[in-house]
Amino acid sequence: MRELMQALREAAGKAILEAEDVDKLEELRIKYLGKKGEMTAILRQMGKLSAEERPVMGQLANQVRAEIEGLLEERRRAVSEAMLEKKLEREALDVTLPGEKPHLGHKHPMYNVLDQIKDIFIGMGFEILDGPEVELAAYNFDKLNIDEGHPSRDWTDTFYFTEDSQILLRTQTSPMQIHAMETRQPPIRVLAPGRVYRKDEVDATHSPMFHQIEGLVVDKGVTMADLKATLNLVVEKIYGKGTVTRFRPHHFPFTEPSCELDIQCHKCGGKGCPTCKGEGWIEILGAGMVHPKVLSGCGIDPDVYSGWAFGMGLERLAMGEYKITDLRLIFENDVRFLEQF
Ligand code: DAH
Repeated sequence: MRELMQALREAAGKAILEAEDVDKLEELRIKYLGKKGEMTAILRQMGKLSAEERPVMGQLANQVRAEIEGLLEERRRAVSEAMLEKKLEREALDVTLPGEKPHLGHKHPMYNVLDQIKDIFIGMGFEILDGPEVELAAYNFDKLNIDEGHPSRDWTDTFYFTEDSQILLRTQTSPMQIHAMETRQPPIRVLAPGRVYRKDEVDATHSPMFHQIEGLVVDKGVTMADLKATLNLVVEKIYGKGTVTRFRPHHFPFTEPSCELDIQCHKCGGKGCPTCKGEGWIEILGAGMVHPKVLSGCGIDPDVYSGWAFGMGLERLAMGEYKITDLRLIFENDVRFLEQF
């Protein structure tokens, strides 16, 4: 029994020194000194001993128990200290390390293009206007000479708020022409960029929300020559000197005469390619001389004043400038896309 007790003492001592954490130590305490532990198992054999040997064995057992308890306590303290040290090390803050820079966003690529266009017009003395996206049918249609029966007024094309089709999400920035003329006296030179809404299905070239830029000039003696000269200048500033333009007759209810402005495809030089869909030309805006009915409806005498106006899609312009092939990328706000600009 003496040997067994010695062996227990040695085994326990070795195991305790190898224990790496407090849980393991508790496990060892139960294994060696617990009620069903190895010490108990040895002491069960006390019955076999003689009366003289028993107290000696008892004393030895107490001694071994005390020793093991002492070792456990010592190791527990050491392990706890090591654990604390490790924890502190892990959580230590090195104040000499360079800080993490906060991630700064930047302007959306489309708004870079818009800023560029605003700059061009501000340079020519235009005033930048902001206006309502929730609009009256009177401003979006009637005052722009767009009659009741016009297809763009259809419920399938326009988002209406009211059953009587009087309040809507503007389908174009042209109502800003009316707001400008109702609140200003000529000479008027305004640029009104903003969101517009149409019931279009989303695809690579369509979105129910997009941006237009409206321009309006009203003064004495304004002619189609002013329209052409100004827009040619703007095109050169955006697309570069020598860009070839074409003014093509068109129809808009609020201008007379009306036209569309094409630029010769900068990719193929007019021969026809995928960028211009084989046309050789790319349409960039609608324009015209403000209709006399529209002027007089805003209290401006068409016999004294004349004006020209244009409307341009911003997304298409940005897509051309940055070679973006899918309109959806502009609105998805995926930083992996936006960070390229
Ligand atoms: N509002 C027109 C559209 O959405 C674009 C437009 C054409 C605006 C001619 C104008 C203009 O100011 O004169 O298609």
